[in-house]
Amino acid sequence: MDLAGKKIVLGMTGGIACYKVAELTRSLTRAGATVHVVMTRSATQFITPVTMQALSGHPVFSDQWDARIDNNMAHIDLTRGADAIVIAPCSADFMSKLAHGGCDDLLSTLCVARPMTVPLLVAPAMNVEMWQNPATQRNVAQLREDGIAILGPDAGEQACGETGMGRMLEPEQLLEEVIASFQRKLLAGKRVLVTAGPTFEPIDPVRGITNLSSGKMGYAIARAAREAGADVCLVSGPTALQTPYGVHRISVQTAQQMHDVVMSQAAGQDVFIAVAAVADWRVANASEQKLKKNGAGDVPRLEFEQNPDILAAVAQLPARPYCVGFAAESENLLQYGEEKRQKKGIPLLVGNIGHQTFGKDENELVLFDDRGHQRLPRAGKQVLARRLVAEIAGRI
Ligand code: CTP
Repeated sequence: MDLAGKKIVLGMTGGIACYKVAELTRSLTRAGATVHVVMTRSATQFITPVTMQALSGHPVFSDQWDARIDNNMAHIDLTRGADAIVIAPCSADFMSKLAHGGCDDLLSTLCVARPMTVPLLVAPAMNVEMWQNPATQRNVAQLREDGIAILGPDAGEQACGETGMGRMLEPEQLLEEVIASFQRKLLAGKRVLVTAGPTFEPIDPVRGITNLSSGKMGYAIARAAREAGADVCLVSGPTALQTPYGVHRISVQTAQQMHDVVMSQAAGQDVFIAVAAVADWRVANASEQKLKKNGAGDVPRLEFEQNPDILAAVAQLPARPYCVGFAAESENLLQYGEEKRQKKGIPLLVGNIGHQTFGKDENELVLFDDRGHQRLPRAGKQVLARRLVAEIAGRI
């Protein structure tokens, strides 16, 4: 569990997005965190403390004069031992208070009273005009300068009927951001390019050849690299997966398209991680029209031609990034893995143990580099992706 053992103070201020924070509370506790909810008086107009208590499993505080804590110092007790304070939704008014150090209710007081080692993350939620107001923007800049993380906001349709910047991030995106805040920034300032998923090679406008890659490992690596502070571009074949928050995704279908996009993005990248299961061949005589059946025994004859090897092409660039390849072998992994690394001319190759990894949530890896090989034991793909990112960071 990504947040096992973490104590999070979840502050809620007035805004319609409070209803989404009910879901966030569930996700945080499911990820292993202990969540203590603190609400401003306005927040209690949007959702009741009863709901938040039931979801968090802990008493909810909203009044600095609450006598339930023995020493009557909720602002001190709640912040000591906290691993993070997350304000969601964070209103324009509350950002103004934070920017100026105001302390006129329990939530603002505990933010000011927190030890500076406790990270403060705020998820703004407000109408587009309120967000764009120069006073709000001044406050946002001040909060950033004070080392407070601003999560979002997003642009889109708003509860008031207007459209624009100011929507709170979705609960799953906030969860990703909270988890990311606890990861070491091993790739801060680095640019990372990742390929993921299968490719789709058309036979005609409605048919094609693909493979069973789900994209899970590549997406997990893109997310882990972003969590580690990198600027991440993900070039993805067709998958059903959500783009990790903060990752720039470019969608492609064919191996040739993936090649062209990767080559256009390769300049200035520090790391290239080729996780995609790229089709080695494409149909040379693909039809522009849908192929029709012309009676029994009439079957189409497909001819194939070779696709470009994307990893090898990047590895041959004069100013090449640090290149990482993947290989799935059904047998002789230790021998084939090292051979493949040398053939592709890359410093690091990651072997999947067993070839039944497609679509699964767990994996087991072997890393090959010029010093030999090293196992990363079986674990969830996200956990393995973080370990792999740490290994890469240690090598560049
Ligand atoms: N790769 C690529 N472009 C291709 C084919 C593969 O970038 N046209 C990358 C994959 O993303 C992966 C690695 O190369 O990182 C896999 O190499 P490959 O030689 O294709 O290995 P296998 O698919 O395991 O193929 P085989 O064992 O058949 O050689």
